[in-house]
Amino acid sequence: MGTGLFSTDASLSWKELLAETARNLSVDNAELEAKWIIEEVSGITGQGDYLEKAKPIQLDRLNRLIERRLTGEPLQYVLGRWQFRELDMFVDKRVLIPRPETEVLVGYVIEECRNKKVEFETQMDLNVADLGCGSGAIGLSIAAEVEGVSVWCSDISEEAVSVTRANLAGLGMAGQKVSISQGFWFDALPEELLGKFDVIVSNPPYIGNEEELPLEVSEWEPSSSLRAGPLGTENLSFLLRKSIEWLASDGTLFLELSPMQADEMAQEARYLGYREVKLRLDLAEKERVLVAKKPL
Ligand SMILES: C[S@@+](CC[C@H](N)C(=O)[O-])C[C@H]1O[C@@H](n2cnc3c(N)ncnc32)[C@H](O)[C@@H]1O
Repeated sequence: MGTGLFSTDASLSWKELLAETARNLSVDNAELEAKWIIEEVSGITGQGDYLEKAKPIQLDRLNRLIERRLTGEPLQYVLGRWQFRELDMFVDKRVLIPRPETEVLVGYVIEECRNKKVEFETQMDLNVADLGCGSGAIGLSIAAEVEGVSVWCSDISEEAVSVTRANLAGLGMAGQKVSISQGFWFDALPEELLGKFDVIVSNPPYIGNEEELPLEVSEWEPSSSLRAGPLGTENLSFLLRKSIEWLASDGTLFLELSPMQADEMAQEARYLGYREVKLRLDLAEKERVLVAKKPL
């Protein structure tokens, strides 16, 4: 029988279930979320056949997903996946939900990788590091979208590394370009790559310990993915200092940060000797990405 909004004995079409789910989800985008949940459970996409009746096992799953969403769990965790650029990423509460601003960051990195390939006129793979890979969204997207790269993804969290590995499995041939390891920032990388990274990218935790976050974030997403320390800039400063020795001579560092930290971090990068320090914008036209070339 099962428990929940719908009796598993009910003879209901997906159209009826969609309308009823939307009515019962007390969230802002109830209709859209209901559609995504129904698509996930039914396997129907686009126009599909919404007049078909749901099976008891599907009704049971639908009930469970609705119940989870009603407790406030983010939709992405409830669905167990989320679109990030070209990838359908598996996500759960062990990792941060990949954000649209990070899709923009990846766009900048991809542009830089393609420029470097042309500029260096090389058939050699570019070495790219994604530090604090979480779900693997950044590194795996780069591997999927750029020819001729070797990508190292690492994270301090064993659980995040497991999620990146699960996502790697869905990458097909492009997955051969990716290595995954666990450890504290650069400690996870092979020593012989010191001074050999053409690109280092990170979206590190950059939120101060006392900064307020929406409940849906603070109660569900891993705090170790969000909080950096009392200032919020601790990881950014560490990565700025430490990347110098890991970057190749013309290597480029990309750091996602909060627009409030942008000027301070750009100043710190210039102080450390980084060249061509730039702040690039996110979709809301806010300074979200620090780009800097290795000091001479
Ligand atoms: C903001 S999340 C970013 C996740 C993913 N890259 C993304 O953009 O969606 C930060 C990630 O950094 C990892 N992290 C935190 N401290 C770290 C450390 N000292 N060394 C390596 N990774 C760390 C966290 O486990 C988390 O997965």
